[in-house]
Amino acid sequence: MTTTLITGIAELVTHAEPGTLADAALVIEDGHIAWTGPAAQAPVADERITVDGRAVIPGFVDSHAHLVFAGDRAQEFSARMTGTPYSAGGIRTTVAATRAADDDTLRANLRRLTDEMLRQGTTTVECKSGYGLTVEDEARALRLAREQVEAVTYLGAHVVPAEYKDRPDSYVDLVKGEMLDACAPYADYADVFCERGAFDEEQTREILTAARARGLDLRLHANQLGNGPGVRLAVEFGAASADHCTFLDDEDVDALAGSSTVATLLPGVEFSTRSPYPDARRLIEAGATVAIATDCNPGSCYTNSMPFCIALAVREMRMSPAEALWAATVGGAKALRRVDVGHLGVGARADFSVLDAPSFLHLAYRPGVPLVHRVWKNGTPVI
Ligand code: NIG
Ligand code: FE
Repeated sequence: MTTTLITGIAELVTHAEPGTLADAALVIEDGHIAWTGPAAQAPVADERITVDGRAVIPGFVDSHAHLVFAGDRAQEFSARMTGTPYSAGGIRTTVAATRAADDDTLRANLRRLTDEMLRQGTTTVECKSGYGLTVEDEARALRLAREQVEAVTYLGAHVVPAEYKDRPDSYVDLVKGEMLDACAPYADYADVFCERGAFDEEQTREILTAARARGLDLRLHANQLGNGPGVRLAVEFGAASADHCTFLDDEDVDALAGSSTVATLLPGVEFSTRSPYPDARRLIEAGATVAIATDCNPGSCYTNSMPFCIALAVREMRMSPAEALWAATVGGAKALRRVDVGHLGVGARADFSVLDAPSFLHLAYRPGVPLVHRVWKNGTPVI
């Protein structure tokens, strides 16, 4: 088995040890991390590559994205910036465009977005359906997502589509019945947009119960646009993650803190909808596990840049740069219940970024600057 020594690392973040290591090296064997430590103590390897005084960090884990869609909603964004509030109703515009698109159009858009993500240091991606909202279109979205990403989530319960507007309960029956049957073979998780204007507590319970019975793990869009039952339901159902967490009361914070459900914060959404940011400090200080993800989608947040979300988390949510990096790597992995990614401990998948900077601090310190110099995935350079 060939071993590769990466040396010349000015600063290494592994997340297996607290803090950072200066003048470091790492060894890759068979696509995994075999050793990390001071460069002066590095073992001999078959090949040796220097990164010339750059920082190395674990690949980002983007645990929340909606990438199977056609078209965009740039006009909606423009209107929002001059005062029109965000409403989930815009989802139906993307549903119409997505239904009308052929498989290759959706595939090409997904490829463009995942390529952009890789170039920005994201090596593990979660992707949801939710812009099909028919049995065939939801199953198609998940099948296409499965071709390109590692974690796939069934979100038939995104909104009630226009044709079911007068009989939402029939749509819930479809989502937890025939649509679930068609989608479950392609999906790891089920998700519900539990929010006023989307799905209420009872509907959410029914869908989560049916999805769990089909063997899917659970995650939830919770408390994005207002207070509500979403976060408490996520904890009650033992969901992997409660996502958004923008409007929380004390009971929600206590529930998250006392559970293994990750609070996934999506600050790009607040940036792009001009909304108040979630209170990350309150969650961290209560003891909740916090992740950061992009929520890349054509409506509420059309960025897929984890470095940008880290900068927002630091500047707008008062997370320290170290907390934000942890949330974007280990936190995201926990939100997907993965232990093999998000860190560079021995045995982890060798997914990492080499930054054009001497320290990970530059991710937040130099917002908007393309600092990802090289990306390695499965022990191979891919960028
Ligand atoms: O996570 N909240 C629901 N879904 C997306 C928005 C989707 C859209 O506006 O197209 C979100 O923000
Ligand atoms: Fe989302």
